Amino acid sequence: MTLTGKNIVLGLTGGIACYKAAELARGLVKAGASVQVVMTEAARHFITPVTMQALSGRPVYTDQWDSRISNNMAHIDLTRHADAILIAPCSADFMRKLVHGAADDLLSTLCLARPSTLPLLVAPAMNVEMWDNPATQRNVAQLYADGVTRLGPAAGEQACGETGLGRMLEPEQLLQALEAFFSPKLLQGKRVLMTAGPTFEPIDPVRGITNLSSGKMGYALARAAHAAGADVTLVSGPTALAAPAGVRLIAVTTAREMHEAVMQNVPQQDIFIAVAAVADWRVAAVSQQKIKKQDKDTPTLSFEHNPDILATVAALSSPPYCVGFAAESEHLIEHGTAKRKKKNIPLLVGNIGHQTFGKDENELVLFDEQGHHALPRASKEALAITLVAEIAERISKRISSK
Ligand code: CTP
Repeated sequence: MTLTGKNIVLGLTGGIACYKAAELARGLVKAGASVQVVMTEAARHFITPVTMQALSGRPVYTDQWDSRISNNMAHIDLTRHADAILIAPCSADFMRKLVHGAADDLLSTLCLARPSTLPLLVAPAMNVEMWDNPATQRNVAQLYADGVTRLGPAAGEQACGETGLGRMLEPEQLLQALEAFFSPKLLQGKRVLMTAGPTFEPIDPVRGITNLSSGKMGYALARAAHAAGADVTLVSGPTALAAPAGVRLIAVTTAREMHEAVMQNVPQQDIFIAVAAVADWRVAAVSQQKIKKQDKDTPTLSFEHNPDILATVAALSSPPYCVGFAAESEHLIEHGTAKRKKKNIPLLVGNIGHQTFGKDENELVLFDEQGHHALPRASKEALAITLVAEIAERISKRISSK
């Protein structure tokens, strides 16, 4: 049982699903975890601290100024020995508070003051319209970007009589999700170096050449690798995306900078994943001044080759496990098969069509020594999780065949 001996801070916020939190607390204790319940004022309208105290076997905290903690530091003391904070149920309003870093009651202050390494999990519970509201969805996206793990919600009949997404997961499902969260992770202990996004190759101080890569696939993969327990370093070209929580981000602009950052960081890495759309060429003579518009003539640019980062890493004497990506506008299977061999890498991920740039969904084909197989259309987040599993499986086979 992975929950045995775990210290869980169980936060309850206002929602009818508080009744399920009672059973959850009971299940956690039964599984061998210590449960410290913290409730908001709103949660106390739905269930009493006495109930939660009886089920968790520990005093329940509701107030920042609780005199039972002598130094008035409940928001610090309650999390310092914790293995995770789980907010269940997590109301729409409490998600807003987490997004904005609110600290106006004990539970929100405790979340804000938690050590950066302490995982925060939320089990949303609310009416379907509240869940669907763009404001809530913005907060959901921000919590994801901040590295908060979301469990649910589920769809179904709601306490208010309406039907749809917003039900809190059942206590049994939450227990299973927590078990999985604490189980050994697929990439536990692995060091992963990645590239993502486009590169930008200057022409002069105000102009340059780039491509349509948004970085979404690479950033989703960095998050998934981090969630799978890896120590992730992400070398990223210019993107509009927030840095994935828990990932070391090295921001670069040009292909040469990306190459340099990768070569500096590649020793001791177990896996290298090249997702970046690296410019194959750079402008040979970058003008130090803005090129002026001439009356008749148009400027002529000449180019030189950029280093092939992936091929360079793959050619090292003892390279990490290398994964490449390929954007092909046609003949994906032929080009993908040939590209994997040419770059001398064990795994290449082909995008079906080149119109994936900037989109939230993707459709992939994996090329390896055995041949190729497709991963059907899905969100980039979902594909990233599948890819991490595919990579982990191949690495463990390699280790066991050595
Ligand atoms: N790549 C790289 N450095 C480069 C060019 C590409 O590391 N200078 C990596 C990409 O990150 C990707 C893989 O190589 O993982 C394939 O990139 P792609 O642009 O599809 O292929 P190219 O090698 O550039 O070949 P072509 O443009 O002819 O398709």
